[in-house]
Amino acid sequence: MALEFNAEYKKQVDWTLSRYPKKEAAMLPVLHLAQYQFGYISTEVMELVAKTLDVPVSRVQDVVTFYSMFREQPVGKYHIQVCHTLACAINGGAQVVKYLEEKCGVKANEGISADGKFSILRVECLGSCSTSPMMQVNDDYYENLTKARIDELVEKWKKE
Ligand code: FES
Repeated sequence: MALEFNAEYKKQVDWTLSRYPKKEAAMLPVLHLAQYQFGYISTEVMELVAKTLDVPVSRVQDVVTFYSMFREQPVGKYHIQVCHTLACAINGGAQVVKYLEEKCGVKANEGISADGKFSILRVECLGSCSTSPMMQVNDDYYENLTKARIDELVEKWKKE
């Protein structure tokens, strides 16, 4: 059976579509809504978004595969994206990834930790270079990272 938006998300999708002159122009916000409802953008979700926007699935796939903010695989409850571009790399981004891997029990770009809590991804610049090294966890930025700050955050998330 084909996927559908649930009533809550359908209402938000309809409202979003009403704000754009062409349905296709609502691609990014509709993809965000789809990702919130389904957790990640599977092939079935791409088909739903394509049907919603009246565009070919390949158009949706182009967008999903271009932006790291869209996930094509399931992720942990805390999806950690660590910037590895220049400013963050110079200021210890690789060490941040290594330390997070140890703390969270999962390797970067290798799925979800055994407890389902964490996934880690190396990503390109997230636009917060002056506060490097930094990471995005779900929708929030964490900046000027240190081992102590990572300890504090990961311990809190492990208890939630
Ligand atoms: Fe890391 Fe820009 S280089 S946020």
